[in-house]
Amino acid sequence: MSGLEVRNLHVRVAGKKVLRGVDLKVEYGEVHAIMGPNGSGKSSLAYTIMGRETFEVEDGDILLDGESLLGLSTEERAMKGLFMALQDPPQIPGVRLSTIMIAAINKRLGSTDLTRVRDPSIVKRMYKLAEELGLTRDILQRELNVGFSGGEKKRSELLQAFIVDPKIVILDEPDSGLDIDGVRKVSEMIRGLTDQGKGVLLITHYARMFKYLDPDRVSVLIDGKIALSGGPEVAKLVEDKGYAYIRSQYMARRG
Ligand SMILES: Nc1ncnc2c1ncn2[C@@H]1O[C@H](COP(=O)(O)OP(=O)(O)OP(=O)(O)O)[C@@H](O)[C@H]1O
Ligand SMILES: [Mg+2]
Repeated sequence: MSGLEVRNLHVRVAGKKVLRGVDLKVEYGEVHAIMGPNGSGKSSLAYTIMGRETFEVEDGDILLDGESLLGLSTEERAMKGLFMALQDPPQIPGVRLSTIMIAAINKRLGSTDLTRVRDPSIVKRMYKLAEELGLTRDILQRELNVGFSGGEKKRSELLQAFIVDPKIVILDEPDSGLDIDGVRKVSEMIRGLTDQGKGVLLITHYARMFKYLDPDRVSVLIDGKIALSGGPEVAKLVEDKGYAYIRSQYMARRG
């Protein structure tokens, strides 16, 4: 299969079981949205896909284009084409946003010199995308996330997703902290990622983004399991009925 596939994933972190048999697929050109209550394992799922070491895979597999990623480091997974925008990106004093992006591009091109701009058109593209995302030019020259507003952090994470040009983009609550125009803009830009043929795994609490990007699939993660999966109608059900209802329906189905 092409794209990202998670099969029967069981994961433990700090002794606690956080995922209990998760199956999901993200195909190229589609947005697969993951919803679910606080603490249900959404960020854990994203971190595990990226290979963060504290998340121990007890069973199951994670595949990109049919090839298992287990055993690969986060950096190796990034080189294979995975990118994750964090729910709460850290500040990196002393390193400019533009420097990070140029280093990431060079790395993907296999260069050992991470600072030299090899292709000036990339810088032009950076400025153009920043503008489209509603970021001012000066933000590229500022230290990463230092003093960035909540919305600026989210927008700059998305800017990196475009510049790094991965195959699969994992976005952990990209709408949190965004103003109304930002939600629309960021949603439209996310749809732009799939128009470029990338697959997007979109973690979000609210269906407000779906007004602008109409997800191809929506899955609800509850207590480390996918309790419900389907099309946009699933998001509508979440908004209308809440998670307690979906959990009880799931339990009833399982008997
Ligand atoms: N490093 C860790 N050490 C201990 N517990 C952890 C760790 N990471 C996650 N957990 C626990 O695992 C559970 C799932 O957390 P996770 O961050 O995946 O939830 P989430 O679905 O992303 O929630 P939210 O909607 O609040 O972001 C929580 O109970 C959390 O406290
Ligand atoms: Mg989370």
